[in-house]
Amino acid sequence: MEIKFYKPDVTHIPLMQELVKDEVQSGKILLRTEDEMATTIRSYTIVEVDGNMAGFTALHIHSPRLAEVRSLVVSKDFRGLKLGQKLVTACIDEAKHYKLEQVLSLTYEKGFFESCGFHEIEKENIPEHKIWADCIRCKHFPICEEVAMVYDL
Ligand SMILES: CC(C)(COP(=O)(O)OP(=O)(O)OC[C@H]1O[C@@H](n2cnc3c(N)ncnc32)[C@H](O)[C@@H]1OP(=O)(O)O)[C@@H](O)C(=O)NCCC(=O)NCCS
Repeated sequence: MEIKFYKPDVTHIPLMQELVKDEVQSGKILLRTEDEMATTIRSYTIVEVDGNMAGFTALHIHSPRLAEVRSLVVSKDFRGLKLGQKLVTACIDEAKHYKLEQVLSLTYEKGFFESCGFHEIEKENIPEHKIWADCIRCKHFPICEEVAMVYDL
């Protein structure tokens, strides 16, 4: 099995949208339009297995202190192979490169993020602009079951 990580270009967007479609429909991951994905294309990392796109994630920088793991998804066919963990590690490494202090995730997958070294924090500590930019667009807003988790760099 050959596993590769790479930064996408805009031609990857249709396949990325297809891969994340079910999770967007279920409300686990927020819909990002093609334009939004193009605007933030530099923040994404893709993982490929034997030439097939198997998952991706994005690291969004909020401030000189804080970045966020966004849109993390591994295709159902490739789950349980530690690809999710490796994608999160790629985000952590990128955050270290930019000398950030903390990586945030808002997630339903507490156990998974614990396995990546994250711990839960109070939601009150999430930056306010994040709530207004993203949460308000979510299917589940304002009754949200997600937990806020961080990794200290
Ligand atoms: C969450 C997700 C990315 C995990 O991807 P994955 O590649 O299957 O996960 P990994 O194989 O890297 O799992 C790493 C560890 O987390 C554990 N884990 C994975 N999913 C878990 C879950 N839902 N609950 C608890 N533990 C979980 C694995 O058992 C493994 O544990 P181990 O180290 O003890 O063996 C994948 O299930 C997914 O795409 N889910 C739907 C989208 C989603 O919820 N994304 C997160 C939004 S923030």
